[in-house]
Amino acid sequence: MQWLENKVVFITGAGEGIGRAVVDRFIEEGVTGIVAFDIVEERLSALQAAHGDRIATVCGDVQSLPDNQRAVELAVSKFGKLDVFVGNAGVRDGRKRLEDMREKELQQGFDDVFGVNVKGYMIGAAAARKELVKSQGCIVFTLSTSSFYVGSGPIYTASKHAALGLMRALAHELAPDIRVNGVAPSGTPTSFADAESLLEPDADRTPTRSGGPTSNILQRQTEPTDHAAAYVLLASDQSSVMTGSVINSDAGRGVSVASQR
Ligand SMILES: NC(=O)c1ccc[n+]([C@@H]2O[C@H](COP(=O)([O-])OP(=O)(O)OC[C@H]3O[C@@H](n4cnc5c(N)ncnc54)[C@H](O)[C@@H]3O)[C@@H](O)[C@H]2O)c1
Repeated sequence: MQWLENKVVFITGAGEGIGRAVVDRFIEEGVTGIVAFDIVEERLSALQAAHGDRIATVCGDVQSLPDNQRAVELAVSKFGKLDVFVGNAGVRDGRKRLEDMREKELQQGFDDVFGVNVKGYMIGAAAARKELVKSQGCIVFTLSTSSFYVGSGPIYTASKHAALGLMRALAHELAPDIRVNGVAPSGTPTSFADAESLLEPDADRTPTRSGGPTSNILQRQTEPTDHAAAYVLLASDQSSVMTGSVINSDAGRGVSVASQR
């Protein structure tokens, strides 16, 4: 059985990492079409080449309302409707400690991380709302273990706590028409990048690898594909009585956190 038959999806940060794994899995689950949104054009071209007509692409910035509106309009003009919005694009904070932040990091760095990780989700939801009411659809946000626990820098941690709060607030506001839920992955090796404003000019831009087998109690190397099934459940009608919920796709980080420093 395919769980997403006839669904039309708009997903941000679709070109790489967890977003890309979700797109690939949604295609397997029978979606009618996906509007894939990313800020890097080549990543979108690769998606299009892999999946053809079932993918429509928008190259834009999640912080822009017109860019998000373009994506919703494309879903309707190409695929006839919108059933699911997945807010997923995110940036990291360079694990910058408060004591190491100068004015630029405090002002620009904070705005850049919150702009993508929180405002981006809110604007995407605002752009999608009317179409999701028509389809009685749903929203899924990519949260994080950092929505619950400390481990990254304070800006990223605060942004992911805020995204959790936004998910809950929207679940309350948009009921009973639109369900809103989240998936909270643990550290996963992707190209996950830091906001430029939080990096030193000569910093190594190679993304930090995370999610190794020693980082979780299941002793697993978590991969982006490991999280995709949680999105399938929340995007499908199988979860029709779930709203305001989080699936912790974290290889046991939640139960082990008390013993960690
Ligand atoms: N990788 C992890 O360890 C991890 C753990 C928990 C949660 N997350 C969350 O997962 C989500 C995806 O991260 P990932 O690890 O797959 O990273 P990734 O860098 O592999 O993918 C993110 C995608 O978002 C795109 N993007 C970045 N800024 C954008 C913007 N302003 N507008 C449009 N697109 C933009 C990037 O080009 C990239 O393709 C994020 O919300 C992140 O917070 C990641």
